[in-house]
Amino acid sequence: MASITIRGLDDELKQRLRLRAARNGRSMEDEARTILRDMAADQLLAGMRSDPRRMHAPRTEPSPEPTTRRVLLIIGGGIAAYKSLDLIRRLKERGATVRCVLTAAAQKFVTPLAAGALSGERVFTDLFDHTSELDVGHIRLARDTDLVVVAPATADLMAKMASGHADDLASAVLLATGAPVLIAPAMNPHMWGHVATRRNLVQLTADRVTVVGPGVGEMAEHGEAGIGRMAEPIEIADAAEALLKGDLRANQPLAGKRLLITSGPTHEPIDPVRYIANRSSGKQGHAIAAAAATAGAQVTLVCGPVNIPDPPGVKIVRVETAREMLKAVEAALPADCAVFAAAVADWRVAEAGRQKIKKEKGATPALTLAENPDILATVAHRKAKRPRLVIGFAAETENVIANAQAKLKRKGCDWILANNVSTQTGIMGGDYNNVSLISSNGVEAWPPQSKDAVAAALVERIAAALAGEAP
Ligand code: C5P
Repeated sequence: MASITIRGLDDELKQRLRLRAARNGRSMEDEARTILRDMAADQLLAGMRSDPRRMHAPRTEPSPEPTTRRVLLIIGGGIAAYKSLDLIRRLKERGATVRCVLTAAAQKFVTPLAAGALSGERVFTDLFDHTSELDVGHIRLARDTDLVVVAPATADLMAKMASGHADDLASAVLLATGAPVLIAPAMNPHMWGHVATRRNLVQLTADRVTVVGPGVGEMAEHGEAGIGRMAEPIEIADAAEALLKGDLRANQPLAGKRLLITSGPTHEPIDPVRYIANRSSGKQGHAIAAAAATAGAQVTLVCGPVNIPDPPGVKIVRVETAREMLKAVEAALPADCAVFAAAVADWRVAEAGRQKIKKEKGATPALTLAENPDILATVAHRKAKRPRLVIGFAAETENVIANAQAKLKRKGCDWILANNVSTQTGIMGGDYNNVSLISSNGVEAWPPQSKDAVAAALVERIAAALAGEAP
């Protein structure tokens, strides 16, 4: 490689070169070499753009406005990496340039050659590759981009991101970038469900990383199915496009807001093997938590025992009893809005047996019940740290609206979502719900729709109310 002397530059130029070199972590000679190489490449590219047949022709017209958006695609090491090759094409179809970084594990699944051929750009693999450090460098890779997409985002990559590691090119770039980051997680359902991954996801959401997927489906492993399948390339490209346009970030309606949500039943022990509970699948509360997280809120979900997957991007506090739920709710305050969707047992057994109560012929145990704390009413009547918006549910089997209106007053909350849960409606445990929103403004009957759609509509209303619009 030819050596460069930097004699003959005036002091001001030298100072600018010194600063630029320091910023990029290079020697002044290397920085000068990089500038010269970039200039040569720019001229070559401009010549190719104006006339692809005259590759060496001098620049004859100004290069086009830099309207092209630059995506840095980090491909992690998972079987879903093959889908990321298609993602390169989907992103390019939307007019983006795509530069790829492949982790060491990714190269076990796809080759840099394939990523390079599809992207039409050089592919980067090593943090300590002296040619790429001289040409581009991980800091420039991180900076010269409008969006970083991580697909597939493996459990390991997510863990590295959440803890700020920088021991390979992908993690170093992620730590150095100021661009928005979109991740498309993909992993085995057990890894996705592991408490460590949940914790990392909460951290990443708090760090303003946008998450797309994962979806439900069959895994690569024979016979395994569940949550963990990477979102389809089109979905990821759609999310990337929205982020590039600023839609997702700017329009995240609950960005910067804290939401507290309760979900599921509580279990009140009779003895170590028996309990009292209300029927509740937790589906509606969990859907609200997921929708609020998608809308950019920082969500704490206090959740009784349920058999459904945790919603992504949410901090989960698991409890058993009503008294534990109240404690967890109070510990999670302050919040901008609290939604109480849990089916809390009204009573507990005053003295739960320490040992299993033995069945004795002809005798039934006399259980003395004690009233449980009303969590919704307690929070709604708080003087300090009362959320601006307190929302309850009223699951009724008759006189739905009248009972819910009375409940709104009695509990001191701002809104109640009333639903008829008589067995013939199929709402209890099902995927659909039919609710009316009751507030001091009156009653609004919503059409029957999925619990996910109810959650999305409620989140929209919450965002409007917290933004100061009338409920
Ligand atoms: O009184 P009822 O159980 O019908 O009220 C339902 C509403 O009150 C729901 O929002 C539920 O989560 C909340 N609730 C509560 N604590 C209780 C009972 C109900 O937060 N002990």
